[in-house]
Amino acid sequence: MRISAVLLVLVKLCVAQDYECGVVPMTQWAGQASLRTERLQNPVDLVIIQHSVYGACNTDEDCEKAVRGTRRYHIDEEGFTDIGPSFLVGGNAKVYEGAGWSLVGAHTRHYNNCSIGISFLGDFRKTLPATEALRATKDLIYCGISHNYLAHDYRLIGHEQVANTESPGTKLQKEIETWSNWVENI
Ligand SMILES: *[C@@H]1O[C@H](CO)[C@@H](O)[C@H](O)[C@H]1NC(C)=O
Repeated sequence: MRISAVLLVLVKLCVAQDYECGVVPMTQWAGQASLRTERLQNPVDLVIIQHSVYGACNTDEDCEKAVRGTRRYHIDEEGFTDIGPSFLVGGNAKVYEGAGWSLVGAHTRHYNNCSIGISFLGDFRKTLPATEALRATKDLIYCGISHNYLAHDYRLIGHEQVANTESPGTKLQKEIETWSNWVENI
């Protein structure tokens, strides 16, 4: 009886983790759920890759500090409702929940209500994110498709393709242009 209860809990934990695509929830890294309320219609069919420039990090401790600092900056200085991107990816290869799959974020003017914005923490004009961080992002996308948050025929672009910005950085832009579902024009 006891063993089966433990097993049940374990199964539930694993299912929950899979359901959330291994993302570190905002309740964990910020101590509260997103303050956003505007719903994003799933499945979303556009993914926009960005970089944060600031907040490069490689350890869990530094990456949590970076996402907390970014959130404070977005709320206190930018006047956003909450942290801008849908997800943030650290050099530790962890993905942090921002607005998430189903809430409208603030990452790409004119596209917030129809896209998922994934921001790599750091500056990727001259260097690439860690291989594991790139892998984690691809896994996030596949997981999003398998849970119908993302359309299977989603399109992927870099931030610079729809805004006057250097984001996601020349080096990272070149990288994502080799990814499946990248499109030159949307
Ligand atoms: C997003 O907002 C634009 C401008 O307000 C609107 O025209 C468009 O229908 C919206 N798209 C979705 C998916 O809600």
